[in-house]
Amino acid sequence: MCNNPIGIFDSGIGGLTIAYALKKTLPNESFIYFGDTKHLPYGEKSDKAIKQYSLSIARFLKSKNCKAIIIACNSASSVAYKAIKTHITDTPIYNVIDPVVDSLNDQDQIKKIGVIGTKATINSNVYEKKINQINKLINVVSLETPLLAPMIEEGFFNQEISTSIIKNYLDNKTLDSINALILACTHYPLIKEEINKLFNSKIHIIDSTEIITKHIKEELKKLNIKSSSNNSYYHFIVSNFTESFEKSASFFFKENIKLEEIDIWK
Ligand code: DGL
Repeated sequence: MCNNPIGIFDSGIGGLTIAYALKKTLPNESFIYFGDTKHLPYGEKSDKAIKQYSLSIARFLKSKNCKAIIIACNSASSVAYKAIKTHITDTPIYNVIDPVVDSLNDQDQIKKIGVIGTKATINSNVYEKKINQINKLINVVSLETPLLAPMIEEGFFNQEISTSIIKNYLDNKTLDSINALILACTHYPLIKEEINKLFNSKIHIIDSTEIITKHIKEELKKLNIKSSSNNSYYHFIVSNFTESFEKSASFFFKENIKLEEIDIWK
């Protein structure tokens, strides 16, 4: 059981930023990654659709004997986490929001925090609700930035066109005088530096990858399910294969990877 893989899923390849960080921190763990490229982007879908897709993927990962499942997508974490936990009770399920919120518990320097993400994530208001449950002193403001995930997915980052789109979104009154910003989308670590430059490195940018990785490491230890295998493997699955996804996936995972197409809805 301990050497069984960890299941990770996202609407597309953004969750590979989490998979990459996990691979570096937990080299003995094997992973099955599922990117639902057939239904991407989740950020534009209804809550009902996101729940249905997410639940099917979680069930698929469970059928592959995954010992834990990580929802490496903010949109699915915002909308479908509870439904997955209700339907799958014998496997630990992790979202990418709670560890980030918990990390703000003892923060007293952050007065006003911005959250940027997809429409599904921002409309759910989940960050504001959860942050204010643990720390009422933080003023949480949110901004939807729907073009950013598809832009990154298409390989547009660290270039003039991406900087100009990011600037267009972030030059927004809502974000005036924030001193921290949560990158509430698993695609955004790839544009962290561009965002940092736009704020002249003056605000604290919270990229969830490190926080999530640390949390998962602690959880595996706590549940006594850490792998001791020296033959860890990575299996990358997408629900709809295109060469361009495979190319972009290599950017996200920082090495050439092969994607296998499995359409679990067929
Ligand atoms: N990776 C997804 C997230 O973290 C965004 C992409 C999408 O809209 O599907 O919200």
